[in-house]
Amino acid sequence: MGYVGLCTAAAFASRGIRTIGIDIDEGRGEQIHRGKAPLHEPQLNTMRKNAVKKKLLDATSEISVAANTNTTFLTVGTPSQPDGSIDLSHIKNATEDLGNALSDKSGYHLVVVKSTVVPGTTNGTVKRFLEQSSRKTIGSELGLCSNPEFLKEGTAIDDALHPDKIVIGSNDKRSASELTKLYRRFYGSKLPPVIMTSPEAAELVKYASNAFLATKVSFINTIANIAEQIPGVDVGTIAEAIGLDPRIGPQFLKAGPGYGGSCFHKDFQALINYSQNKNYDPLLFRATEETNEQQASRVVVLAEKLLGSLSSKRVAVLGLSFKKDTDDIREAASIRVINHLKKKGAQVVAYDPMAIPNTKKKLLDQIDCAENAHSALKGADCAIIMTEWNQIRKLKAKDFQAYMKNPNIVDARRIYNPEEFSGLNYLSIGLGPSTGTKY
Ligand code: UDX
Repeated sequence: MGYVGLCTAAAFASRGIRTIGIDIDEGRGEQIHRGKAPLHEPQLNTMRKNAVKKKLLDATSEISVAANTNTTFLTVGTPSQPDGSIDLSHIKNATEDLGNALSDKSGYHLVVVKSTVVPGTTNGTVKRFLEQSSRKTIGSELGLCSNPEFLKEGTAIDDALHPDKIVIGSNDKRSASELTKLYRRFYGSKLPPVIMTSPEAAELVKYASNAFLATKVSFINTIANIAEQIPGVDVGTIAEAIGLDPRIGPQFLKAGPGYGGSCFHKDFQALINYSQNKNYDPLLFRATEETNEQQASRVVVLAEKLLGSLSSKRVAVLGLSFKKDTDDIREAASIRVINHLKKKGAQVVAYDPMAIPNTKKKLLDQIDCAENAHSALKGADCAIIMTEWNQIRKLKAKDFQAYMKNPNIVDARRIYNPEEFSGLNYLSIGLGPSTGTKY
């Protein structure tokens, strides 16, 4: 009942399909059942509440109930090991527990791997653990599919209700057709395109999807860093123009401080490690990751351009979460930027509408946190915009002027109109020096 599990369960239940969420954490089940969704995601809590009320969604820590269902989705996390390779311990434990629960079941049961796993995991680790612990064989008594998800934080429910595709990887016709039947029930006449393939290909689709998106971000950040050197050039115009080419497309071309979040970096590391173990070094993906890592120092270079040395300077970091509308700071660019600032001797004060508790947990007392944007700006020598929150976007040039000691602004998310900030010391990722000509 983590992010993917809870959103998937709530979405199934919202379409009238009786769903039980299972988690080893007893408190979580209780919370889902009686309290509030244990994570922040638009629409999730209302959906959860309605489904619980209609008795379509239940939650428990008792895995034996899985035997009373037709289908079980494995949605446990797949974190990184210290060397970047995938940690399958949650997959192993959950599969073993599920197999034990299914050992006395008499009818057919379908097991679906939704967690992001490297190619070969469904047919390898999952199949082995499931067959051993259930003492059944995949095929006649048990079905097994890989069925990756593509949910984005902040729009996960919408993504679950309107996916652009469903990918089903299976070895046998029965498990593929059982899962398709379930999705037909879910989507009715609006069933999205279904890609039928092998489990290994389905597993790789998920990595390829994240790798492509992340590479698009590192690509536009590279163009942004070049654009910054050229008078009169703004990467926004370049992105707009190339995005009109349908072969390129407009999305994921927003230059910024680098991608963050729980998936891109983790999945890249797992894919790179997997690939290297197969004796292929995916050079492009290593470059994507390195470009992303370096992008944080580019943000700090802009601050140095404005301030010279950062030693003892008060720097206000506005926005901490890896994107807007979430309290998630996992792999957030803000943390990388703050670490660089601290190394350079800056005194950091940060503000975020939601992510301060998580940041305090991670950085402890390394930074000061402000209650609102204005108090973060008070007396600051420089402000760095790290997340595109609407309330940060709404700040005007006069707010920076009124509160800051020196109005030096680094817009790492490119949320302000440079013309409105022309009276201040304003630098933005991907914005070349002004030529004075208006286009
Ligand atoms: C991602 C994938 O989009 C999703 O399909 C997968 O299931 C999980 O990982 P998520 O981590 O929620 O989803 O975030 P996403 O919206 O994709 O953004 C990832 C990062 O890239 C954010 O830090 C965002 O700010 C950054 N980004 C995105 C850019 O810097 N520029 C862009 O144009 C788009």
